[in-house]
Amino acid sequence: MTVTIVGSQLGDEGKGALVDIWGGDSDVVVRYQGGDNAGHTVVQDGTEYKLSLVPSGAVRGKVGVLGNGCVINPETLFEELDTLREQGLEPDVRLARRAHVILPYHRVLDGIEEEVKSDDDLAAGTTGRGIGPTYEDKAGRRGVRVGDLLDPDVLRDRLEYAVPQKRALAEEVYGLDVENSEHADAFDVEHLFETYREYGERLKSESMTVNAGEFLSNKHADGEELLFEGAQGTSIDIDHGIYPYVTSSNPTAGGAAVGTGVAPTVVGSGEVVGIVKAYLSRVGTGPLPTELDGTDSEEELADFIREKGGEFGTVTGRPRRIGWLDMPMLRHAARANGFTGIAVNHIDVLAGLEEINVGHAYELDGEELLTMPATTERWGECEPVLRSFEPWDDVDWAAVAEEGYDAIPANAREYLDYISSEVGAPIYAVGIGPGRDETVVLDNPFEK
Ligand code: GDP
Ligand code: IMO
Ligand code: MG
Repeated sequence: MTVTIVGSQLGDEGKGALVDIWGGDSDVVVRYQGGDNAGHTVVQDGTEYKLSLVPSGAVRGKVGVLGNGCVINPETLFEELDTLREQGLEPDVRLARRAHVILPYHRVLDGIEEEVKSDDDLAAGTTGRGIGPTYEDKAGRRGVRVGDLLDPDVLRDRLEYAVPQKRALAEEVYGLDVENSEHADAFDVEHLFETYREYGERLKSESMTVNAGEFLSNKHADGEELLFEGAQGTSIDIDHGIYPYVTSSNPTAGGAAVGTGVAPTVVGSGEVVGIVKAYLSRVGTGPLPTELDGTDSEEELADFIREKGGEFGTVTGRPRRIGWLDMPMLRHAARANGFTGIAVNHIDVLAGLEEINVGHAYELDGEELLTMPATTERWGECEPVLRSFEPWDDVDWAAVAEEGYDAIPANAREYLDYISSEVGAPIYAVGIGPGRDETVVLDNPFEK
């Protein structure tokens, strides 16, 4: 069977921790979108593994596949693999030959365009990894795919077509003096050809590329368990998120089919588990109705949560913006993804607060809304209708981890019941700390 793990909010919900736990029962862990913009932290026996591109199943020694829906920077991939090897792991990672390649000019253009957009408040606050420009070239049919790296003639053709266009964009639209800049190599066909041909040779010699749809469907037919690992989250999905402050792929569950070549009927007959953070955190720009930034006391509260929850971007180190849980956002996620279950993380971080609120609904033009409006401008006009919950104290979370769900403070359980009933999906797990043994697991989606 298949289990798809999806971020329910704005990314960084703690997906990596759950993929690590349930990945133990899978045979293959598959990323279906995004690239090294993702940052997942997995903590095992006190060792912290930071993963950007390598699927979180690598920590368990599972086969990891980067599906055709991913965008792959070979340079960061090999660096990450080397780091994991130094940490004593032996990651087995396969790349879809249909996946697109992030080239150095994509990163340069990502940076330039963000700077230009910031004048009009349109910058998304990207991770600067070249994600958007690579997906643009994919849609524009001028991308370079992993399979092209293995065929020097095709690689040269692709680069000879694309690079002069990119160079003209940088020079003529954005006014960059490419030749005299630090980015000259990024727009040099010969340099790119040699470098990427070598990556291709390495991929080939290590047998790292696959026809992902075929590879995965065969495994599924053989009875192997597939775990689809979404990166990012529903509200930064290019179609279902808060456009234009979004990433350029589809983290929602539908992406698991399109981004791997496994049939939607197969993905849809499996489990889809939404990962929920017990409050909101956000790197990047755009409105955030339940953000804690209005008054000094709200900002103090946000600082407290940020410090306690370690809310600093895994990829960029940026402090994350903090808000109360946003229920309309979660209802929207439940509908778009069809959650069969949810995991709620970080309830330990909220422990010890004097007050706990959630944005139960929005008020917009005098009306109460239970889900998100379709335009981000209208979303920005929404005022949260808060509902308060009885707070819970910090407890011995290690003991809770041992004893299980009933040892979670009663007020926190009430909070969890509320979330579950509003999204219409049962709770499969509750995160009470970052470590592998700091998750209370109620149900295993692979046993459904
Ligand atoms: P992802 O991008 O969704 O995989 O999430 P990240 O790994 O970027 O961010 C989640 C952070 O919270 C990581 O540092 C995790 O180790 C940590 N974490 C995950 N679950 C919990 C939890 O239940 N409680 C606490 N305190 N930390 C958690
Ligand atoms: P994980 O998988 C949180 C955000 C960026 C920016 C927007 C576009 O760790 O949950 P991009 O570089 O993708 O073009 O940036 O999306 N973003 C994330 N925010 N978690 C992530 O990944 C993110 N990946 C991208 O901050 O607002
Ligand atoms: Mg992350």
